[in-house]
Formats: sequence, structure tokens, C-alpha cells
Amino acid sequence: MKDFAGKVAFITGGASGAGLGQAKVFSEAGCKIVIADIRQDHIDEALAYFRDKKAEVHAIKMDVTNRDDWKKAAEYVEKLHGCPPQLLFLTAGVNAFGPCEASTFEDYDWVVGVNLFGVINGLVTFVPRMIQAGRGGYIVTTASMGGFMGTSGCAPYSAAKAAVINLMDSYYHALKPYGIGVSCLCPGGIRSNIGESHLTRPKHLQNTGYHLDDKVVEFMHKHYSYGIDPVELAKITKKGIEDEVLYIIPVPEPDKFMRGVLERMVNYTTAEGMKRQEELDRKRREEMRNRPNPMMEGARESGWGTARKDITWVKPREY
Ligand SMILES: NC(=O)c1ccc[n+]([C@@H]2O[C@H](COP(=O)([O-])OP(=O)(O)OC[C@H]3O[C@@H](n4cnc5c(N)ncnc54)[C@H](O)[C@@H]3O)[C@@H](O)[C@H]2O)c1
Repeated sequence: MKDFAGKVAFITGGASGAGLGQAKVFSEAGCKIVIADIRQDHIDEALAYFRDKKAEVHAIKMDVTNRDDWKKAAEYVEKLHGCPPQLLFLTAGVNAFGPCEASTFEDYDWVVGVNLFGVINGLVTFVPRMIQAGRGGYIVTTASMGGFMGTSGCAPYSAAKAAVINLMDSYYHALKPYGIGVSCLCPGGIRSNIGESHLTRPKHLQNTGYHLDDKVVEFMHKHYSYGIDPVELAKITKKGIEDEVLYIIPVPEPDKFMRGVLERMVNYTTAEGMKRQEELDRKRREEMRNRPNPMMEGARESGWGTARKDITWVKPREY
């Protein structure tokens, strides 16, 4: 897709971070934007930003895990613009950090619920409507580089993102005959508010196995402040849509990055490969220890990534 003027773009998580960057870049490209977000304060701030920009931007408060909300959102867009979106950005996401082995059902239900089922709900709601509208279109989900490998410090998140990466491969092939393109954005760090994800965690899913307090939140705000600017990321995403690339990986050499990912998987398939990979991991950890990394400064002291205090059987984490 190269022409964005006049197209309706629906963006989950569109009121903050990566989603807000998409709203800014695609409204400038001429899209009519509908922001969907669970946080009213984020929606208010986003709408205030667009108020004097002459952009056509509307917003709906919704929870991507709630299927009734999706039905209402689809009806809202069709009432507003007379058609379903031609551009669907499934960007909303949350994160939580702690040892894999301390994860609770509620950690999985919340993190997988938003990051994977939030995407599935969006696809099941809008894909049939987009096909029946017969205008083609484009779908972009936001996964993460974390989805290319297991991460023992945020397992539910990595697993959900891995599933999104896989799912988009299926949809890419399935939607081609309908003139609907598909991309999956897989970023590293983004300058965003994801460090305060816990503020949207539902009451019935509060039971976590991970340690979280003000110090951890403060660390995460600093940690994510080193990430890519969301507007820059949205510009890279726009180029990815124009080039119709399935996996948009915002690094200078995405093919080299992917070869590293695949080499790790290949190494994991033989005894010699396992040894090779262990050695590579050891060297990488040593390099990281010896290189100043402002992104990780204060991580250990804050207690980030550790288990809930009363879970005493978890071994201390290696930094
Ligand atoms: N920040 C990073 O370093 C990073 C790295 C890779 C991928 N990502 C992914 O980027 C996407 C955007 O995150 P961000 O970093 O911009 O964070 P962010 O917190 O700034 O933005 C996410 C938005 O999603 C909304 N949201 C959360 N739960 C929701 C729900 N249940 N229903 C509707 N809206 C909900 C939040 O209110 C927020 O406005 C996420 O999918 C995230 O996993 C982030």
C-alpha cells in the first residue's frame, strides 16, 4: 500500500507510545484516525495533541480483551466513516517482568490476554468486515524482537509475541487474494509508557508472581526512555507497509539480525550446537557486563525482574 490519503486507520493502543506515533505519522499521511485505548487519560492527552492539527482523529475507550467492546468499536467506526477501516493497527500491549518459574495463571491470563488475544479479537472482528467491504487494506500488528526467542524474565510476553509473529505469517498468505496486506512490526526498545502497564491490569488478575513496587516502575521508565522514538518507529513502519514487508524489524540490517535468531535455533538442535550456543551466550553476557549499559543501570538495585517477596524458592537472577 502506497496511498494513505482518505483511508480510515483504526489503532489499538493508539493513545500512547508506538500507537500514538502511528496516529501522528498516518494522520499526517492523510488517514482518518480512530484511536482505541483502555486509558482515558492517554486518550485525553492524545486528542489534545491533535486538536490544533487539522487532523481527523476520533477515539474510543475499549479493552482489547473484551469482545463486546470490539463489536461496539466496529459499529462505531462504520457509523462514523460508513465503512470498516482500510488500515488496522493492532498495537496495544502490556508487559510484566519476573522469573518464568514464578509466573501465575493471572500473569499469563493478563499478558497473553492483551498481547495475543487482543490481536486475535481484532482480526476476528475486522477481517471479515474488511473482506466484505471489498476495498482491500492493510493490517499491522506490533509484536516484539522478544518474540523471536524465549525470555526467562518475561515468558508470558515473549510467548504471546511469538504467537503473534506466527499468526501474521498465516494471515499474510490468507489475505493476499483479497488485496489485504499484512505486516508484523518487531521492535526492540521503544520510548513509551509500557513501564506502567500495571495500571491497566484488571482487578481479577492482580495475583502476580513478580515483584513490583515504585522503584521497579521508576527503573522501567528510565529503561524505556532509551528506546526508539515512536514517531521514528512509525515512519519505519510506513516504509515497511509501502514495501509490503511481512516482518518489519527496525534495525539497520534486519536480515543479519534474523540470521542470528535462526542460527540460535539451529544450534539448539544438536549436542555440538548446544555447546556452541552456550559459549556464544557466555561471551555475550561477558561483553554486556564489561560494556557500560545505561539502559540497565539500577536494574538490580530496583529489584526489577525478581519474584514476589514471599516466593523464596526462586534462585537469584543473573544480570
Ligand atoms: N516499549 C518497548 O520497548 C516495546 C518493545 C517491543 C514491542 N513493544 C510493543 O509495542 C506496543 C505498544 O507499546 P508501547 O511500548 O508503545 O507502550 P505504551 O504503554 O506507551 O502504549 C500501549 C497502549 O496500549 C494501551 N493498552 C494497554 N492495555 C490495553 C487494553 N487491554 N485494551 C486497550 N488498550 C490497552 C495502554 O493504555 C497504552 O496507551 C505493545 O504491543 C508492546 O508490547 C514495546
